[in-house]
Amino acid sequence: MQCSTKITTILAIALIAMMSATTSFAIEKRSYSDFGDLENGKKIFNDGKGDVPACTGCHGPTGLGEDSMGTPRLASQGFNFLLKQLEDYASDKRTDTTMFIMNVNAKGLSPQDRRDVAAYAASLDFPMTGSDLNALEELGQKKGVRYLGKSLAQYGAPERGIPACHSCHGYNGRGAFPIYPRLTGQKYVYLVTQLKQWRDGTRKNDSMGQMRKVAVNLTDDDIMNLATFFTSTSETTLGNSRVPPQY
Ligand code: HEC
Ligand code: HEC
Repeated sequence: MQCSTKITTILAIALIAMMSATTSFAIEKRSYSDFGDLENGKKIFNDGKGDVPACTGCHGPTGLGEDSMGTPRLASQGFNFLLKQLEDYASDKRTDTTMFIMNVNAKGLSPQDRRDVAAYAASLDFPMTGSDLNALEELGQKKGVRYLGKSLAQYGAPERGIPACHSCHGYNGRGAFPIYPRLTGQKYVYLVTQLKQWRDGTRKNDSMGQMRKVAVNLTDDDIMNLATFFTSTSETTLGNSRVPPQY
């Protein structure tokens, strides 16, 4: 009798443990279709809509970004972050310094289209491979020193007023969503241009000026070192393949 009570207790504990495990699994596996209409997003992404050209034309066929055009990787970026950027372009809070391309694109889409295409881009799951730095170097692009970038990313340089990037952007810059975007596997050219824009204040859509305060103390060499590290790093460490949800 006593034995069977014990077994019942053990079973009950196991059941509770299993139930809570499935609950947290269910939360992490939240589908991107909860955020928008993925079919509509896919159509806009691949074919464009009205006067808005296909996103793939500049962001690459699978949304991994193109160094030759200075475009960022959109695939696997956080949904909320992507949507915020599209809203910021649409309201001119963020201006695309090249030719207002993204401002025009974002304004050409309805608020629902912006949600749908952001959800679709976020759902694209490709390996975190960033730029081919050797190929870029052959084209005359100066690259940085990876270990110096890594040190700055992990520890910052308090004596120069630079905080650790990891403190906001997470381990190896894999993103701390919904606010802090993923930097892992982002394109080198884009990382460099954005850090310079935060530094000189031409990009100012960061709430509370968080990124501008970080970038103001970076030298050109720091920027190249950081971009070299983040484009070529991994979002996980050996033996721990878990990554936070990307919303
Ligand atoms: C003609 C080229 C072009 C097309 C087409 C284009 N983009 Fe872009 N996009 C850019 C460039 C260039 C940037 C970087 C601009 C900057 O420096 O602010 C950018 C930036 C972005 C960003 C900011 C990402 C980040 O990490 O901050 C988002 C989001 C984005 N584009 C989404 C889209 C979507 C969605 C489409 C399709 C509807 C699209 N783009 C079509 C050129 C393009
Ligand atoms: C105090 C928090 C904080 C720290 C520390 C920080 N960042 Fe950021 N960063 C942000 C926020 C917030 C954004 C998003 C702003 C927005 O909404 O557009 C951002 C955006 C960026 C972007 C633009 C990404 C994109 O896709 O457009 C880059 C690049 C970046 N950070 C690099 C860095 C680097 C490199 C470091 C370390 C030297 C760093 N950040 C440290 C808060 C931080």
